[in-house]
Amino acid sequence: MKVVATKNELQKIINHWREKGLTVGFVPTMGALHEGHLSLVKEAKEQSDVVVVSIFVNPTQFNNPDDLKSYPSNMIRDLKMLEGMCELIFAPTVKEMYPEEDKRQFDFGGLETVMEGKFRPGHFNGVAQIVSRLFEYVKPDKVFFGEKDFQQLAIIRRLVKELKMPVEVIGCPIIREADGLAMSSRNQLLEPVMRKNAPIIAKTLFDSFNFATGKTVQEIKELVVTLINSTKLLEVEYFDIVDGDTLQSVDKWSDSGYIVGCIAVFAGKVRLIDNVTYKK
Ligand code: PAF
Repeated sequence: MKVVATKNELQKIINHWREKGLTVGFVPTMGALHEGHLSLVKEAKEQSDVVVVSIFVNPTQFNNPDDLKSYPSNMIRDLKMLEGMCELIFAPTVKEMYPEEDKRQFDFGGLETVMEGKFRPGHFNGVAQIVSRLFEYVKPDKVFFGEKDFQQLAIIRRLVKELKMPVEVIGCPIIREADGLAMSSRNQLLEPVMRKNAPIIAKTLFDSFNFATGKTVQEIKELVVTLINSTKLLEVEYFDIVDGDTLQSVDKWSDSGYIVGCIAVFAGKVRLIDNVTYKK
């Protein structure tokens, strides 16, 4: 496993692989790795000859400077976790990725303005800036993203289409802790009492799936928000039930063949997201 920090070193190795006809799988991360990331790397390994993982905390996708400052990071631990799982790690500096300010503005036809986009303005523009650069440098055949970041996955699919990038986007299932909490780098920031209560988010989403038959979309929305908000230290920022492709809210279960409930919850200062598919 090699670790490189510059675009030149990265591309030299990738060009060499390409000459040998190898297929390249790519997993972009912001580090603070957990089993969820490792599941993406395993899937990438299954589907490609060689795997590249990037570790880069992208400043342009943080709309809140405090969030960027507190974002967990532990490169030594990350490298240990990846040992033997991939061929190449790309861990660039901010200067390497953004030698100049990236002024590009992306338009994803409304996908970026709802849910996360509404509460974290500019977030997806920053994600698109970094992901498009990484894809350009790595030129992967396949890229692997977790379905926990449901909206991000939809936006990446759209980005690849808009930029006509010859890469296949693979969505991978959410990996959960034994108590149901969706794995996230941010879970490390949870104080013990928050960590104890956080699984209520997933439990409520699963319960809402079971209750969905016989209740309206509006009733399910109210139920989820009320149940979570009645748990100590948890506060829903948004819960929306949307069409899984357009991400626009649905009013009735019959509005779409693909319906997903997406949630963001504050556990103290830590913001957690999760989702549940009601219909596909
Ligand atoms: O999902 C993430 O960790 C980040 O948004 C990504 C895709 C690595 C871009 O910085």
